[in-house]
Amino acid sequence: VRPVGVAVLGMGTVGTEVIRYMTENAEALAARIGAPLALRGVAVRDLTRDRGVDPELLTADPASLVSREDVDVVVELMGGIDVPRPLLLEALRHGKAVVTANKALLAEYTDELAEAADSTRTDLYFEAAVAGAIPVIGPLRRSMAGDQVERVLGIVNGTTNYILSAMGSTGADYAETLAEASRLGYAEADPTADVEGYDAAAKAAILASIAFHSRVTAGDVYREGISRISPDDFASARDMDCTIKLLAICEKLQREDGTEAVSARVYPALLPNTHPLATVNGAFNAVVVEAEAAGRLMFYGQGAGGSPTASAVLGDMVAAARNKVDSGRAPGESTYAALPVASMDEV
Ligand code: NDP
Ligand code: HSE
Repeated sequence: VRPVGVAVLGMGTVGTEVIRYMTENAEALAARIGAPLALRGVAVRDLTRDRGVDPELLTADPASLVSREDVDVVVELMGGIDVPRPLLLEALRHGKAVVTANKALLAEYTDELAEAADSTRTDLYFEAAVAGAIPVIGPLRRSMAGDQVERVLGIVNGTTNYILSAMGSTGADYAETLAEASRLGYAEADPTADVEGYDAAAKAAILASIAFHSRVTAGDVYREGISRISPDDFASARDMDCTIKLLAICEKLQREDGTEAVSARVYPALLPNTHPLATVNGAFNAVVVEAEAAGRLMFYGQGAGGSPTASAVLGDMVAAARNKVDSGRAPGESTYAALPVASMDEV
């Protein structure tokens, strides 16, 4: 069987974990895909660091990987907008499937990327771009495609939730907690994106676009960050039996003339301690989706960090690779590595 060639652009917090799981679980992934994944190259900036991969695979020139004949899936984990944008367009125009976690890029250019993917009938997957490990893009894009979503409300930034949770519970220092979030791999390369709400606004734009089948960019999202939240704000919140969370709210509004419009906004909000989102702490995220037929759904899990984010990236890689092997069929259970079934005595 011909292997599915993979190029990974970026081997930082997320890329390192993606390559580690891809290597360690190679056999299981091959069984699910129907062909092995073959790592063709890894783009980084610093070629001198030992990264535990064959140095022959490393390049500081990501452009050299994206249109290579033996690459089928390009996985972008570099971040930024100006560098990855032309690379991913080039990859898609060459018919490569693209998997990306880059919400900043998607919040501005999903249309352009999707058009390029359509032009060669290839895939553009980005589950990891919103809420780390939590499957929310897939459910909105696929499982709920027949429903009418009315509202998406959530905590979608792990760094700010980590900071607010620590400030609320132990009165921790804002700057120290932000440094800790960066050390743990939750924060963006420039954490201003987290604390000023830009990252959550990008995610809100992506969620609103998918939920309401509309074009919403980061600039359309009203945004306030958490940098001005003080211990006094938490004391006041506690007096009201509330806490403070950075919320992303996307909803359909009825205008006075009877037409509908989409509203997307991000700001720190007072939440009663009894609200389900008030108990979401640390780098965890949660997203509540309200839809006409489904009613209310809640998605919860680790929203940031290398390993949780790698889970979402790998899921997209398996889907993209399967499409290359078997043109879009749903996962074939018969191809899974078979495990025996345990008896109750073994439980
Ligand atoms: P890092 O900063 O840890 O890693 C970025 C990687 O990209 C590094 O390996 C870096 O190389 C490489 N890189 C950057 N620019 C270039 C370039 N011009 N040419 C070649 N290589 C380059 O970022 P993360 O892993 O944290 O994040 C990656 C992406 O995933 C971002 O879009 C981020 O928003 C997104 N994301 C991150 C999450 C997280 O929890 N960290 C969660 C969900 C999404 P070098 O190692 O040499 O510096
Ligand atoms: N910096 C982001 C966060 C990473 O803290 O949520 C996950 O998208």
